[in-house]
Amino acid sequence: MSSGEFVSNCTADSLAQAAQLLKDGGLVALPTETVYGLGADATNPSAVARVYKAKGRPADHPLIVHIHSMQSLGDWADEIPSYAISLARDFWPGPMTLVLKRTILAEDFVTGGQPTVGLRVPDHAVALALLSAFEKIGGKGIAAPSANRFGHVSPTTAKAVQEELGEYLETRDQILDGGPSTVGVESTIIDCTSDSPRILRPGAITIEMIEESTGLKVSTAETNIRVSGSLENHYAPNASVHLNRDPILGEGFIAMAQIETPSGVVRLASPTSIEEFARVIYSALRDADARHLNSVVVAEPAGDGLALAIRDRLMRASKGR
Ligand code: TXA
Ligand code: MG
Repeated sequence: MSSGEFVSNCTADSLAQAAQLLKDGGLVALPTETVYGLGADATNPSAVARVYKAKGRPADHPLIVHIHSMQSLGDWADEIPSYAISLARDFWPGPMTLVLKRTILAEDFVTGGQPTVGLRVPDHAVALALLSAFEKIGGKGIAAPSANRFGHVSPTTAKAVQEELGEYLETRDQILDGGPSTVGVESTIIDCTSDSPRILRPGAITIEMIEESTGLKVSTAETNIRVSGSLENHYAPNASVHLNRDPILGEGFIAMAQIETPSGVVRLASPTSIEEFARVIYSALRDADARHLNSVVVAEPAGDGLALAIRDRLMRASKGR
């Protein structure tokens, strides 16, 4: 199979073309502020089936539906609690996915058979322009999981998408290049189906931000809701990932800039802030594989908020595949 067409110059024309491709059942990989997604028309069962196939993902894991604005929320979600409206007002477009009771538009093939649907308005000019062009021709939403093979590191550049999925795409499929993702870890997923919000996956929208927006206490209790990003063995490179120990000769090393590199160790990233840590972590893990390293040591960042999301992903990456 051949790889998808690479579109690096996202003009109005090329985005209108990409929107039409989605409408015709093709796949379009798109940039978002968190990570790149592999998009399909969320109402087209065969297009969505191709997303699962390209990712090698089990069919019972639900996809996030991306919409252009909260105006489209009612198309997909029912019985929306007022705290979810506050969250949407405060943080969309942005790195936040709301899990809500679904309408009939959200069919089993996109929700993994669950009675809920995950919705997000991404904060990226290319993604928003594509969503707007898609709406103009009658599109309702773009289902898009992270554009990586199941269990692998999420892509934060168009090149990483090409490396992950190129061989699983058809010639007509497209990969849109919108530059490196600025947040770098996946959206915060918030279950909004009970009286108060519950975090299913931590991200850049933090507990404090959610409590401030809603005036409610956030729960982080474990649930039996299926979130593949909450599986152990996820976000993993080929190299084995080790946390918070001294790296040895020939190992890769990722740590905040103030931590020195022991001699003989391959420094892969030296972020100077938590935000930068999030932005570079996945490309640094990919870099370890590109350099054929067998193992990478990460000195995890301390603190709450985004640091918590980074530690969540690293814990899973360290379990391997
Ligand atoms: O930042 C992101 O969220 C990125 C970008 C592309 O938007 N997308 C992303 O998609 O991370 P994915 O499929 O790799 O992870 C989505 C997670 C999965 O773990 C899935 O189980 C969960 O969202 N999810 C989706 N719909 C859900 C639902 N109705 N109930 C519970 N979890 C849901
Ligand atoms: Mg993913």
